[in-house]
Amino acid sequence: MTVSWEELLASIGSCERCRLSASRKNTVPGEGDPRARLMFIGEGPGANEDEQGRPFVGAAGDLLTRMIEAIGLKREDCYIANIVKCRPPRNRVPESDEAAACLPYLRAQVALVRPLIIVLLGATALKHTLGGDYRITRDRGRFVERAGVFMMPTFHPAALLRDESKKRPAWEDFKAVRDRLYLLKQSQQSDLPTP
Ligand code: URA
Repeated sequence: MTVSWEELLASIGSCERCRLSASRKNTVPGEGDPRARLMFIGEGPGANEDEQGRPFVGAAGDLLTRMIEAIGLKREDCYIANIVKCRPPRNRVPESDEAAACLPYLRAQVALVRPLIIVLLGATALKHTLGGDYRITRDRGRFVERAGVFMMPTFHPAALLRDESKKRPAWEDFKAVRDRLYLLKQSQQSDLPTP
């Protein structure tokens, strides 16, 4: 699906492809720099996100913002999206058919943004992007390259809030992202023709 941002956001805004549309207050398409080099993918909107129509605005979002800043970036320089664009009731994990119905939107977002690195936040993001053979505890912290994009699975910020012991490995993952991004940006620059 090759679409413009306008078409994509309009489709998401009026989407009724799955049952989650029935209980949402707002769709949460995603936000950030449409040409970001770094993209984050979470699970799906929670209550705050559903209320505001913006991703990662609750406690987990505050932590994500602080972690982005700790690697020397600004939240608005990244692009932040989710597997599903509507809040699952009682914040349950999205069902596979809900994720499947919504994934074309995420694919279109990735195609439009063309990030160098995508950070997969938690098990749901990992499962619906890289596939069900991956496990977050086993596979976090290692880049997986798909179609020229480096994907980094790491713990979801909400998991870090529940379990302090996950913070250190997640911070290692963020530092690896910072370092790889630096190298990728450098090699992109050296690809440019000299004036
Ligand atoms: N958790 C997510 O996975 N996404 C959000 O947007 C907020 C919390």
